[in-house]
Amino acid sequence: MRAVPDRIAFAVEAMAPRPGTRVLEIGCGGGVAVALVRERIGPDGTVVGIDRSAIQVDRARRRNPGDGVELRVARFPDIPGDDSFDLIFAIDVPAFRTGDPAVASAAAPLLRPGGELWVFDEPPPGTATGPVSMRISALLSEAGFAIVDMVERGRTVGVLAAPIASVEEG
Ligand SMILES: C[S@@+](CC[C@H](N)C(=O)[O-])C[C@H]1O[C@@H](n2cnc3c(N)ncnc32)[C@H](O)[C@@H]1O
Repeated sequence: MRAVPDRIAFAVEAMAPRPGTRVLEIGCGGGVAVALVRERIGPDGTVVGIDRSAIQVDRARRRNPGDGVELRVARFPDIPGDDSFDLIFAIDVPAFRTGDPAVASAAAPLLRPGGELWVFDEPPPGTATGPVSMRISALLSEAGFAIVDMVERGRTVGVLAAPIASVEEG
C-alpha cells in the first residue's frame, strides 16, 4: 500500500473515530483518510466520502472496495438533507479557507446529537500555522459552531467544533 501522508495519519489519529459510527468526509480526494477511518469504525460503521471531482472519487473507489464505504461525486453541501453523521471532517479543502461560512453552516444540521466537525488545513509554505487555526476557528464560529479543541503537528492544524446548540444543551 502507498505511504499515508503524515497530515492525514495525524488527522485520523486526532479525530479517533469510534467503532460503529457514521462518518462523512468532505473533499475525500483519493480516499486515503477514508481507508484509515474505515479501519477504526469497523464493520458496524460507515464512512461516506464525497468529492466534487469524479476523477478523485474514482481513485477513492479503487482504494476502498467493499462494504461500509459510500463514495459519491458531490459538491458539498449538495448532499441529502435526511442523512446524518456522528463525525464530519475535511482535510485541506478550499471551501473551508474562504471567509464564507455557508459551507461550514451546512454541516451543522447533518450532525447527530453530540456530533463533531473537524477541519484540518496547512499554511502556505514559509508561513506560520497560527493564522490558520485562527482563520478556521473564526469561520466555524461565524457558522454557528463552538470551538472545542485545536491540535497541531508539524504543518497541520486541526480544529474540532460542535454546533453551539448541542454544546449548550450538553
Ligand atoms: C487539496 S484536495 C485534498 C484531498 C484530501 N482531503 C487530502 O487531504 O488528501 C481538496 C479536495 O477537495 C475537493 N473539494 C473542494 N471543494 C469541495 C466541495 N465543496 N465539495 C466536495 N469536494 C470538494 C477537491 O475536488 C479536492 O479533491
